[in-house]
Amino acid sequence: MKVDVLLGLQWGDEGKGKIVDVLTPKYDIIGRFQGGPNAGHTLEFNGIKHVLRTIPSGIFHDKSINIIGNGVVIDPIVLMAEIDALVKMGVDVKSKLLLSTKAHLILPTHRLLDAASEAAKGKEKIGSTLKGIGPTYMDKTGRNGLRIGDINSPNFKDKYNALVEKHKQLLSFHNFDYTLAEIEADWFKAIESLKILQQIESEHYINEAYKNNKAILAEGAQGSLLDIDFGSYPFVTSSNTICAGACTGLGIAPNRIGNVFGIFKAYCTRVGSGPFPTELFDETGDKIRNNGREFGSVTGRPRRTGWLDLPALKYAVMINGVTELMMMKADILSGFETIKVCTHYNYNGKQIDFLPYDCSPELLSPIYKELKGWNQDLTGLHNVSEIPQALNEYIHFIEKEIGVPISIVSVGPDRTQTLMRKKELV
Ligand code: GDP
Ligand code: IMO
Ligand code: MG
Repeated sequence: MKVDVLLGLQWGDEGKGKIVDVLTPKYDIIGRFQGGPNAGHTLEFNGIKHVLRTIPSGIFHDKSINIIGNGVVIDPIVLMAEIDALVKMGVDVKSKLLLSTKAHLILPTHRLLDAASEAAKGKEKIGSTLKGIGPTYMDKTGRNGLRIGDINSPNFKDKYNALVEKHKQLLSFHNFDYTLAEIEADWFKAIESLKILQQIESEHYINEAYKNNKAILAEGAQGSLLDIDFGSYPFVTSSNTICAGACTGLGIAPNRIGNVFGIFKAYCTRVGSGPFPTELFDETGDKIRNNGREFGSVTGRPRRTGWLDLPALKYAVMINGVTELMMMKADILSGFETIKVCTHYNYNGKQIDFLPYDCSPELLSPIYKELKGWNQDLTGLHNVSEIPQALNEYIHFIEKEIGVPISIVSVGPDRTQTLMRKKELV
């Protein structure tokens, strides 16, 4: 059975965690393939709301194994806090969570370097979550990083000290004040606690499972427009968030990828800096933010809001080879008389329908089509037959423009508030 991939098509926070949780009963293994605790994946069921940062979103289901893949960067302190919270809820984390020996470690000094780098950028800052993601991936590609497999080594502390010395030198260039001792003690305590978890060569484990016809779902973090290669560089994260990242982040060959589930919100949001062609600065933007509770699940920052951007969505669908779309938060658009969708851009006086290299607002402005809105509250719907006509027209319009079917329409944060347009998914 081929490996399915689920990922975000916009700037993150599309609702990936919710849909992974909904789809998990069909899968034996869920593997996170990139990113780290910059992610916040929210799940809601039985009146519980839970945010996962590093742990795959299949963890609440009894039968599935969850793997943190080699492409992920792990902060031991954050991961242990996640594990403690799950254990308190009665989740058997020890037998259901496996760590790749090749996943890189976020050191306390990586977080300091993230903060120093953002402070030095001033107005040009990325708006990073400051979790140490960029500096950790820099050490990975610079071939200096420490990995999960290293924590078993008798000279782990020496390796750690050598890397921290490098970081201290870098921090001295930034003239950045910091204290390390306390957080370092917590970090080593968390490293000791992590040793209770099973470490695996996850690429072997996953390929063996593939041979044995197990159903595997790869879970992405962030979104395609934050991808290090194809996102709005430099306002991006430091990993490949796209489908190809599932290959490198779990050790899955490209010809073993099956369905690619592309998650998008019925509108757009972005947290942090960088271009956002359809951003709204008016009451409509505020209404979307307030109705959609668009505040970051990791940092609490208000998310920037705007209408759906089809050229950007088309681009993400192309780069990922999306086979099925899943539209989230349709309920938040209830009560708008008209709904706008960006179909083209005005780019330097010309009409274009693709995402250009330079998306700065001086050059590029959205061209909208207006569609009829709907008034009904959607949060109580249980069946696609109850979808109001105007929403069906919105769905059909997007499907026609993008050329890929929308198989799920989500109408609320809870597991149960999920309308399946394609029944075989669960
Ligand atoms: P992720 O990072 O892609 O997993 O998404 P986040 O969890 O950061 O953000 C999505 C937010 O929207 C969370 O608070 C979810 O509980 C919530 N959510 C997901 N789907 C829906 C939906 O269809 N309707 C509403 N109202 N909220 C949703
Ligand atoms: P999930 O998985 C939304 C954004 C940050 C910043 C940029 C770089 O929950 O969708 P980083 O900390 O990676 O250096 O930040 O990327 N960002 C996210 N935005 N959802 C996320 O993850 C994000 N992870 C990073 O706000 O603009
Ligand atoms: Mg999130």
